[in-house]
Amino acid sequence: MSSLAAEQSGTFVSIPLEGISGDEPLEFPLYLQNRAGRPVLYRDVRTPFDASHAARLRAEGVTHLWVHEHDKRGYARRVEAGLEDLLHDRSVPTEERAEVLHGVALVVAQDVLGKPPGRDEVRRVERFLVSTATLVVREPGAFHAIRQLLRAGQDLADHSTTVAFLSLGLARQVVGAEPNTLVQASLAGFLHDVGLVGKPLTEDDTDTQHAERGYRFLREQGLPEPVCEAAWAHHERHDGSGLPRGLVGESIPLLGRIVGLVDAFEKVYSGQKTRMGVFDALRVLAQAYRGCFDEDLAVSLLRVFR
Ligand SMILES: [Fe+2]
Ligand SMILES: [Fe+2]
Repeated sequence: MSSLAAEQSGTFVSIPLEGISGDEPLEFPLYLQNRAGRPVLYRDVRTPFDASHAARLRAEGVTHLWVHEHDKRGYARRVEAGLEDLLHDRSVPTEERAEVLHGVALVVAQDVLGKPPGRDEVRRVERFLVSTATLVVREPGAFHAIRQLLRAGQDLADHSTTVAFLSLGLARQVVGAEPNTLVQASLAGFLHDVGLVGKPLTEDDTDTQHAERGYRFLREQGLPEPVCEAAWAHHERHDGSGLPRGLVGESIPLLGRIVGLVDAFEKVYSGQKTRMGVFDALRVLAQAYRGCFDEDLAVSLLRVFR
């Protein structure tokens, strides 16, 4: 795995070269890795880093640069501004575009879910997920590339990012690769636990009010009703054993069923003490949550990983 947060060295993080170049001077310094694997200053703050600089590095075989951990947000803002253009650029390998997208997603999630998000932040998430859905619909290999980067959730931002992308993948299997469906599914996944903002993720199972709180919050933000409903229903279970309303089977809205299954899977996958493969996690999910999920939906989740 080679994601923004995964390759950490001390207080530096590795970032893909793609997406950083632009007309504006840098708001943070960029570092290169020397032979000993240590970061050395490459471009200082307020100096330019444009397409010609990136091309020169690429010609030398450089694929990643480094930034200070505390500059991650500045990096994400710079990349986010030109993300749409980068995602359309088929001259950049799909895997590299997916890596940039995933890195930006994690920073957006940390920004937006660090405190109750305002309308502008919710719109920022929407814009980002529209770009993601468009890429997935346009390029069949894109979802696979994104999925390869997903990691177990350490906190609400990680958890929500993974649930967002997997909900998009499951909706693509179940409903079809239609942009609006994929935007709504990923938005529902991204914001399903918004009612937990400010609390530890471990309260997901004990705070029985967070689903309804999230629903009310999302309605106030003017989000589409299926997205709000999914937040409310993500702890409902097929056999009626869920919360908060004890809905049964298809009375649980479809997006709620999709996000609920992905959410439970992500928790099994990230909650294991020993490292577990995806298919083992799916097996544990099937045993531990027997009857809790629609079987057809569970089979479709399996297909998301094939
Ligand atoms: Fe939850
Ligand atoms: Fe969750």
